[in-house]
Amino acid sequence: MRIRPRRLRAGRTVRRLVSQAILDPGHLILPVFIGEGLQGREPIESLPGHYRYGPGSPELVDYISEAMELGVNSFLLFSSTRLKDRMGTPAYNRKGPVQEAVRTIRRELGWEPLVFTDLCICSYTDHGHCGVPREVNGRIVIDNDETLRVYSRIAVSHAEAGTDFIAPSGMMDGQVAAIREALDKEGYTGVGIMAYSAKYASAFYGPFRGALDSAPRFGDRRTYQMDPRRGMEALREVELDLEEGADIVMVKPALAYLDVIRLVKDRFPWAPLAAYNVSGEYAMVRLMSEAGLADYRVLMMEILHSIIRAGADIVITYHALEAASLAREGFDPF
Ligand code: PBG
Repeated sequence: MRIRPRRLRAGRTVRRLVSQAILDPGHLILPVFIGEGLQGREPIESLPGHYRYGPGSPELVDYISEAMELGVNSFLLFSSTRLKDRMGTPAYNRKGPVQEAVRTIRRELGWEPLVFTDLCICSYTDHGHCGVPREVNGRIVIDNDETLRVYSRIAVSHAEAGTDFIAPSGMMDGQVAAIREALDKEGYTGVGIMAYSAKYASAFYGPFRGALDSAPRFGDRRTYQMDPRRGMEALREVELDLEEGADIVMVKPALAYLDVIRLVKDRFPWAPLAAYNVSGEYAMVRLMSEAGLADYRVLMMEILHSIIRAGADIVITYHALEAASLAREGFDPF
């Protein structure tokens, strides 16, 4: 036998040498939850290890600083409010929790942390949908274009607070164009857009909806989020978002959609591609390890490297700090 693939697997060092997916904390984004009216922080039951942070709290500032010490410099902020309405107007309150948290980060830590703010209304509406409902011929539909008007106002409120990137996650048609136009009109030409371009209607969002109380009160999200059975449609969604001015595009969830990540990367190699390793994927790792079926750290590393191998340039993950500190220790389970 001349060709023996096992030669490249003979030891740790050679395996590392020829490895092709490299996990760099600088390519991770840590999701951060902000709790309205909170002083310190409180644990999120559905996401063990994660907390809601008060928008002006020293705990928030410490958390961000601690992440940056580990090399994680990018953050994706989410929040919700107790008072909710049909249009999700609390989402563009200039004194809202996300807006206040961004101001706190800027005041205490300056412009070094890269701040992304999720833009959606599901956690600010009394019905839990990502868009504004309207009755048409006796049926409730989510009114796409009415929703865009709300999104535009939210985007401007985030920009005013000092965000770096707006991350629209509501899957309304034309959302990137509407937000880009609103930002530019107000002079925020430097604020970028990371578009949730191919976001699937997924059962993997369960723990997140618990964290934000954002589950739909009626119906489901299948009239706006994508059908898991359609892969190629992701190319259309990504193409549209890039044409509309997205700076970064995203596939979400990650693990059950690795093929979609690869499709997008092959077709648009020049576009920065993020993959969202979502809350249910995070929960699976914990549940498997709690059941004694896998080592938490090894499972997590295999998943994160798989997402990178599939073609993601950026990984949004609840594991960001664990992964960064293991990487710093030189932990290599492979
Ligand atoms: C809001 C939003 C969701 C997630 C990110 N932004 C939930 C949803 O669409 O129901 C999910 C993130 C996760 O599960 O980690 N539209």
